[in-house]
Amino acid sequence: MEKLIINGRKKLCGQIKVQGSKNSTLPIIAGSILCEGEIILHNCPDLTDVTAAVNILKSLGCRVKRENDTLIIDSSYITTSEISDELMREMRSSIVFLGALLARTGEAVLSAPGGCEIGLRPIDLHLKALREMGAEIIEEGGNLCCRANDGIKGIEITLAFPSVGATENVMLAATLAKGRTTLTNAAREPEIKNLADFLNSCGAKIFFAGEGTIIIDGVKRLSGTEFYVISDRIAAATYMACAAVTGGEMDIINFPLNDISPVLPLFNSSGCRIKTEENSLYIKAPEKLVSSGTVRTMPFPGFPTDFQAPAMAMSSVAEGITIFIETIFESRYKHVSQLKRMGANISVEGNVAVVQGVSRLSAANVYAEDLRGGIALVIAALAAEGESNVSGLKHIDRGYEKLEDNLRQAGAEIKREV
Ligand code: UD1
Repeated sequence: MEKLIINGRKKLCGQIKVQGSKNSTLPIIAGSILCEGEIILHNCPDLTDVTAAVNILKSLGCRVKRENDTLIIDSSYITTSEISDELMREMRSSIVFLGALLARTGEAVLSAPGGCEIGLRPIDLHLKALREMGAEIIEEGGNLCCRANDGIKGIEITLAFPSVGATENVMLAATLAKGRTTLTNAAREPEIKNLADFLNSCGAKIFFAGEGTIIIDGVKRLSGTEFYVISDRIAAATYMACAAVTGGEMDIINFPLNDISPVLPLFNSSGCRIKTEENSLYIKAPEKLVSSGTVRTMPFPGFPTDFQAPAMAMSSVAEGITIFIETIFESRYKHVSQLKRMGANISVEGNVAVVQGVSRLSAANVYAEDLRGGIALVIAALAAEGESNVSGLKHIDRGYEKLEDNLRQAGAEIKREV
């Protein structure tokens, strides 16, 4: 079984350039099917999830070429509105193709994504909003048959929860709709703004009216564009955590600093010294981390659920007790049992995890069960005494580009064994 072999307790020092954002690239790729003309997308990370989205585009008849971190997409001709079950199953977030396909072709046939490693992940909010916008959606045997015979129409919609995916689906559908859509209680994650910037650069009319309100005036068509995807805030914070647990110091460059402001207090209160610049930061870890108190995950600008597991790996070796409250996903503590194999002292009750920091973790063979839980194990292995094996790499490879290269050039002893 493929695994990462990590010999821990090496101080990480050096510079890491942050990859393009996975969670921005995916909806932007879906958005490219709204455009008639060539799309040139820079800063697209080479990840299995991005490849899965590209394969969906190709299956729809689009032409796609990758040149290093640039994707060149031509969606002038779409030959089908159906996405195969096999392609849908590759990646849960392919549900964002629904809004885009409906807007472009007036129909979409795809399978509903099921639950996943981190929770049930229903799509009721997506479907409710699209139905209100005029789509007829028949759910049958796990399949969704969607049609908007009279086109998608702009309306006022309020999301019951600021779901990232539902916000993206509404934005994509509304871009080519008839009339104005006003979406309230929309997600405010940086990836939403990036999707809007991309669509606007193609001719869409999307405005942010503050307080989670997005106004979208439908346009008839979108053209091609050249666009830079933002860099990945969770990857940036992950590399900070790698420096933090090894007592290291690192420059993390090439990412929008504002996007990681929700996690900076955690690093500061853990005893890390941080110097910030516009698109980069320097982090110097203390010899011993201290607890950051309570971490409650919330929609942006709250503490990101995607950084809960990496933060837990940090708190496992921080002095004192750290309490985690996971409010976004139901089953996002799968990494706990694996961290415990490395000697972490963690107890979980419902959505609360209590971590009593230990002086040292010890190496173990551990298994990643989801993407962010998986990277938490890598962080813990970097901190642990001895040689750990981390398997389940298909999850980690969904989100981290050149992980071993980045860590190795910063001084980690890490190699992949196939
Ligand atoms: C996106 C991110 C993921 C991140 C999450 C929350 C991508 C590709 N993925 O996922 O990395 O962890 O945001 O920041 O961008 N929900 C419903 N009904 C719905 C939709 C969502 O109940 O129709 C629930 C979900 O089950 C979950 C919560 O709302 O408990 C948040 O989900 P959502 O914001 O939609 O996350 P995703 O878009 O799936």
